[in-house]
Amino acid sequence: MEIIILKNAESVAAMGGELLGELLRVRPAAVLGLATGSTQLALYRQLVEKHLAGDISFKHATSFNLDEYLGVAADNPQSYRVYMDREFFDRVDIDKQNTFLPYCEEGQNPRLVGPRYEEKIRQAGGIDLQLVGIGCNGHIGFNEPSSSLRSRTRVKTLTRQTFKDNSRLFSKEEFQPKLAITMGIATIMDARRILLLATGESKAEAVSKMMEGPVSAMCPASILQMHERVTVLLDEAAAAGLRNRDYYDWTYRQNESLKDRFGIDHD
Ligand code: F6R
Repeated sequence: MEIIILKNAESVAAMGGELLGELLRVRPAAVLGLATGSTQLALYRQLVEKHLAGDISFKHATSFNLDEYLGVAADNPQSYRVYMDREFFDRVDIDKQNTFLPYCEEGQNPRLVGPRYEEKIRQAGGIDLQLVGIGCNGHIGFNEPSSSLRSRTRVKTLTRQTFKDNSRLFSKEEFQPKLAITMGIATIMDARRILLLATGESKAEAVSKMMEGPVSAMCPASILQMHERVTVLLDEAAAAGLRNRDYYDWTYRQNESLKDRFGIDHD
């Protein structure tokens, strides 16, 4: 794992924007795995700014989101489709026909959505870079603790904690889903690169378990220890629980060139 600890959430988003921008410049038709959640908002703002400044284009890119709520219509303001359109897709030049979420149409069997989504990812040539956040309980996507480390895209039930964590985003009158369709852990692990962003003290414990704890289904993000190319961008607060901190900083200082660090060389 490549671990980069930065001053604050803004620097994390800025570095994330640099890394994604670099990938798109080298590989304009990149297949991006995208995530939602509060952490990613600043990153999308960065990407939009870069696009408006003429630095990057998403015209030839394709995207697959990690997850989508089940039982929430695509045009519901709480859907991840609306989040993605509002925060990102509608503000850049990506062709929306090439943006996918694991959405279950009304009347469709939700169990069929996962295998079809996986097939679509395969047809696109696989994911070049998967963006992920981390839940306070160590989830990635909606792969909650105890998820199979070999799982593929499927229906998952959110834990009570995730349900509670996300309740801040729903008003009292709104339906808050307990089910979602999420890429599986094996699906995420298939990505050629993974970029994980975590900010804020509420993530400190999950981050230390992910990086310095045992690989365990009880901390799904810990499987990333087994991936060859993971970059973890943390702010000081999210890094607060790391025991090996000194080594991460020391290593980072040795790697001066962004290109060397991210090495866009797999074409
Ligand atoms: C979102 C997702 C989740 C979030 C995680 C962190 O698509 O899959 O795993 O990345 O719950 O969410 P925030 O950033 O809101 O703390």
